[in-house]
Amino acid sequence: AASSLQAEYKPLTRSPGEDEYADVDWDNLGFGLMPADYMYTMRSTKDGVFEGGQLSRYGNIDLSPSAGVLNYGQGLYEGTKAYRTEDGRLLLFRPDQNAIRMKMGADRLCMSCPTVEQFVDAVKQIALANKRWTPPPGKGTLYIRPLLMGSGPILGLAPAPEYTFLIYASPVGNYFKEGLKPLNLYVEDEYHRSTCGGAGGVKAITNYAPVLQPMSRAKSRGFSDVLYLDSVNKKNLEEVSSCNIFIVKGNVISTPAAVGTILQGVTRKSILEIASDQGYQVNERTIPVEELVDADEVFCTGTAVTVASVCSITYQGKRIEYKVSDQSVSRELCSTLMGIQTGLIEDKKGWIIEI
Ligand code: COI
Repeated sequence: AASSLQAEYKPLTRSPGEDEYADVDWDNLGFGLMPADYMYTMRSTKDGVFEGGQLSRYGNIDLSPSAGVLNYGQGLYEGTKAYRTEDGRLLLFRPDQNAIRMKMGADRLCMSCPTVEQFVDAVKQIALANKRWTPPPGKGTLYIRPLLMGSGPILGLAPAPEYTFLIYASPVGNYFKEGLKPLNLYVEDEYHRSTCGGAGGVKAITNYAPVLQPMSRAKSRGFSDVLYLDSVNKKNLEEVSSCNIFIVKGNVISTPAAVGTILQGVTRKSILEIASDQGYQVNERTIPVEELVDADEVFCTGTAVTVASVCSITYQGKRIEYKVSDQSVSRELCSTLMGIQTGLIEDKKGWIIEI
């Protein structure tokens, strides 16, 4: 049953003109939370079947102090976006891929999970209900954050008896405070993001708090984010706290292979396909940190980040610099990706869902 705290979904009454856009300073969006009107909640039965999903006003939720997510970190999150086109339509980009990834994570963390159809349907509902929070074209996107959590109470270490799937949304602009300026990354060789046999390959919420310390340290020294190395050899590239990493050398574009420690980003996968279509040779492989020295370009990908060029990487006290121009491979790939996402380039791949 829905929490008593949740008011039922009813379109708000507004004065004419207010319907199209929420009262937001669209020119100054960053990646701060600005909750859109509605969230979506769906709970599982004890048999792990999800049903009765519904929209309600955004607000706090009831959660048992002994919920699995609070005590043992049994939780996953996703990120996807809605885009407003020049002619006012609303588009989603590959939300089925987020649904499939959530299912992989749920299997890894012994959680029940909504079906792909339930997930995609809920994302559509959230985007539509919050349409007026979707920025005008060119100003940003509506970031949609699905969560799956062990919400049932548990004391001993075991899977929670019940699960809650929840989605909320917020308009966003650029992820990094640098805006569209290229990033300065710091290669971390003390802390690691992920270990072999761990859960780095899925979007477990527990992958993110442990990067806060190295990330905060790097930010306080003026870097944009941290690039992690593998924890076994301490020499191969893995990913950045919030996104995947790519290197470009000539016509070859490489990214670390998704071997269990690397998050299988939806943007990562899409960029690999776009780059291959554009004639680049794409490689998913082991990338020793030394290859950064000879790379022509380095860039990051992620739903929040989109495609971000890198202008410097600092490793063991040495700073490697990269030239970034409007003709850079990363800029070209980014403009194709964003063109598809915003409806400016025809989607020949079945990636876009118009709602
Ligand atoms: C995303 O790109 O959607 C993510 O989940 C990364 C997060 C740190 C904002």
